[in-house]
Order: sequence, then structure tokens, then C-alpha cells
Amino acid sequence: MRHLPEDGEAEHSYKVCLLPKAFLIVSDPTVVRHILSENALKYDKGILADILEPIMGKGLIPADLPTWQPRRRAVVPGFHSSWLQSMMAVGLFSRCSDRMVGALKESMQRGMGPMSSCWRTQERAGEEVDLESMYSSVALDIIGEAVFNFKFLSVQRKSPVIDAVYNLMQEAEHRSFFLLPYWKVPVLGFRFLGLGPLVERQQRFEQDIELINDCLDELIKEALLTRSEEDIETLQKRDYDALENPSLLRFLVDMRGADATERQLRDDLMTMMIAGHETTAALLTWTTFCLLTNPEEMKKVHQEIEDVLGGRRATYEDILKMEKTRLALAEALRLYPQPPILIRRALDDDVLPLAWGNEKQVKVFRGTDIFMLVWNLHRSPVLWGDDADAFRPDRWLSSRSNPDVPGWEGYKPNMKNLYPNEVSSDFAFCPFGAGPRKCIGDQFAFLESVVILSRVLQEFDIQLATSPEEVGMTTGATIHTEKGLKVSLRARKNVPAA
Ligand code: HEM
Repeated sequence: MRHLPEDGEAEHSYKVCLLPKAFLIVSDPTVVRHILSENALKYDKGILADILEPIMGKGLIPADLPTWQPRRRAVVPGFHSSWLQSMMAVGLFSRCSDRMVGALKESMQRGMGPMSSCWRTQERAGEEVDLESMYSSVALDIIGEAVFNFKFLSVQRKSPVIDAVYNLMQEAEHRSFFLLPYWKVPVLGFRFLGLGPLVERQQRFEQDIELINDCLDELIKEALLTRSEEDIETLQKRDYDALENPSLLRFLVDMRGADATERQLRDDLMTMMIAGHETTAALLTWTTFCLLTNPEEMKKVHQEIEDVLGGRRATYEDILKMEKTRLALAEALRLYPQPPILIRRALDDDVLPLAWGNEKQVKVFRGTDIFMLVWNLHRSPVLWGDDADAFRPDRWLSSRSNPDVPGWEGYKPNMKNLYPNEVSSDFAFCPFGAGPRKCIGDQFAFLESVVILSRVLQEFDIQLATSPEEVGMTTGATIHTEKGLKVSLRARKNVPAA
């Protein structure tokens, strides 16, 4: 191993050798800007693609550049503003949030018994709710309906397809921690070596992926049977509130000239289901955790929700006014970025800009795997100050810079965007990646999160049911709690009419 920073010395670019491979680790904004934005097409997804391809095929996240370019051009127009806005107030986001609130109320009643006026007492069993798993269910319900018009209804029920989705996510996380790609070894090879558990893993994986693929294939076939070809502009002007099936799949199938194969469509849908589900759930989980551990900030968000919404459900215009709620979400994404690492592999030799704390520029050889530590970037005291680890949503309202960081312009507030982004922070804040391969669901996820969070906070006062330390943290593709976000709820007064 070489170039590892010691205590007090913070290099923002160094190399780790895990023979026979060497990895470059970076966490400097100008280097990140170089790799993700300025020289983006000199890099592909490398190890990430190796891990994700068996699940997502040639979907947008793992896709090689020639596959990715036309698909990105086809999928991005589907996330247009009238579709996003129709998902909001009376649309999908609110409907699914209402279902979640209903399920929370039911579990509240189970905990307190039907006639009790205060529904939480220390002794009663069943009174604690795991908000992390609730957020995960509501995010799955939303992504299923929005992307391929499939009603998982996972807030209310269990089903083999839902189990298969969760198994797949766990498998993806498991693979990301294994140095050897065991999934490429034929099952017979494991039997021969006596590695029974890995055989079971592989077989369960095959069954799960088949179940989900069958389900997606059926939805794609149905959509193709009722295809009505239109150009992009006409599709974007459709009345999405009135459509029976306003899903992204409908848009992709109906788009004139974007003739994707059924296989490619399935890969794209699978990718979006996985990319847009646990990430959003994690954002909601950690925002709630940060608000619960910072009661002053919780008070401000509650107040804003009351002032702007009163008892109404949020519209797009409301969300633009809800600055404190949006900044709380952004600040939680800074502290708990999903995923905490971005991965690239160099397609060609390259030279990186000088990183803060390094004496020389780093040369990158073709084939080098690069890990961009977004966690470190987002929590660097050099970039964010001594309180970098603190949850302080107001930090986004003042500028910040550090002339010692070569080439970094610093952060400038810009509340015209839904959230402070990589451009306003000159790549010190990249929660949705950056450049041509930036997340296509960032606006969707942010709007969805404001709607869900505000709906839950409109309805309930929340308290942590454990100590903050007991919540713990584990990381994989996203950052999870160790045992769930266990909370107790108390009904609030100013809630929307059913
Ligand atoms: C890419 C984060 C929600 C679809 C990415 C990337 C990040 C990210 C960091 C870049 C990955 C890289 O550069 O290697 C998040 C977070 C979300 C979220 C934090 C929620 C809070 C969503 C949603 C969708 C989605 C809701 C879809 C509905 C995608 C896709 C890509 C992507 C398709 C690949 C884009 C490309 O390579 O062209 N996301 N995402 N994401 N995300 Fe998201």
C-alpha cells in the first residue's frame, strides 16, 4: 500500500494496492470534476459493471459507452416536467404516501389498543415502527408504478415478486463486498469445491431474477401491443393526470424512432427499479434520523410544513417554497451519500489535476480502477469547515471557499434549483453523480422525498425509540441502519382530509 494519508495529513488522491490490482482512491473536487464531467467519456463503470451486469444487463448504470449513449438520449426525455408534476399533489407520490400513512396508523393502533388516546407507552408490544422499512416499501411502490405501471403495494402486503426484488438488492450488496466474482463460476464448480452456501445463493439469485424478468417481460409485451407512436414533443404534452397508464415504459414504447429491443427495455426498467428504490429510501431514512437527532431543525421543518401546506398535500409550487425541507434533505444527502462511493475504470491513459494535499499530479494508466469517495468529499473539513460532520441545513445559504484547494471555486448558494448541486458546489457535493452519467432520476427522487417526508411529518410527531448510537450504520450500495430506524409516533392535529 502506498500514499495512504496518516492522521492529520489529508491527501485527496492516493493509491491502494491489493495485489494483483491497484486502485486509485480520490476525494478532491477538481479531480472528481475531471473524471465525472470534463473527461467523462474516457472512463466507464469497470468493477461496478462487472457486479451489476448479471442483474441490470445493459441498463443505463452498468452500460458500456456505445450502448449507453442512445439509451440515455431515449430515456431522459421521459423525465419531463409535466410528467413529474402529474406525479405530485393528487398523483402517485401522494397516493402512495397516503397508503404509507394509513399503514403507520394501523401499526400505531395495534400498539396502543383501539380506545387509547396516547398511543405510545413504553411497555406495549408492537408500538414501535421501523421507518426505514416503511420508506423502502413506499419507494418501491412509487418506482414500480411510475416506471412500469406495476402496483407492488408493498406497504400493505407481501408477495413473491417483492421478496425477489429485496433478495436481488441484497445480492447486489453482497457482491460488492466480495473480492472474487463468485457469480461468474458455474454452479457445478462450487459443488466440486464443496461451497454449498454459494451454490444456494446462485440458485436463489437465478430464481429471483427469472421471476422479476418474467414480470417485466409481460408488462413490456402489454405496452407494445397497445403502442401508439408519437414524436417526443407530442408525448410530453399528453395529459398525464388523465392517462390510465402514465408510466415511463408507456413513454419509451410510444416514442417514435427509439426502437429499443424488448431486452434493452427490460434492462432499463430493472436498472431504474433498483437505482431509484433503496437510494430514495435511504435519503428519507437519514433525513428523518438527522431531524430526530437535531430537534431544532425538526421544529423548523414542521413549522414550514404547517405554514406552506397547512392541511393540504404538497403541489410543485409548494415544494419550491419549502426551502427548509429541501435543505434538510440536501444536508442529509451530504452526510449520507447514496452510494457513498462512485466507481470508474480508465479507458485510456490520463493525468489527473493536482489534488489538495498532493505534491504531484497523478498519472492514470488505462485499465486503472478509481474509487471516488463521495463520503469523504462530502465530509471534508477542508471543503466544509470544522463542522463538516454536523447536520446544519443552513450552511447551504452562505458561500464557502478555500483558496488552499487548487482549482476549487467553492460553494455558492442557488435556491432556484430544487437542491444545491454539483455545479453550485463546484463538485464538492455530488449526491447524484455529475456530468453525462449523472442520475436521471434526481428531480424525481427529490420531489418524491419532499412529498413523502412532508406527508409523514404533517401527520405525526416522531421520536426515536432507541438511542442514536443503537441505530448504527452499515454500507453497501447504499448506507443502511443496522437494525432499522425504530421510532414511536404520535398523531398531530393539522392533517390533510382523507
Ligand atoms: C445514476 C444517485 C434516484 C436512476 C445515479 C448516480 C448516482 C445516483 C450517484 C451516478 C452513478 C455513477 O456515476 O456511477 C441517486 C440517488 C437517488 C437516485 C441518491 C435518490 C435519492 C434515482 C431514481 C431513478 C434513478 C428515482 C429512476 C427513476 C438512475 C439511472 C442512473 C443513475 C438510470 C444512470 C444514469 C446514466 O449512467 O446515464 N444515481 N439516484 N436514480 N440513477 Fe440515480
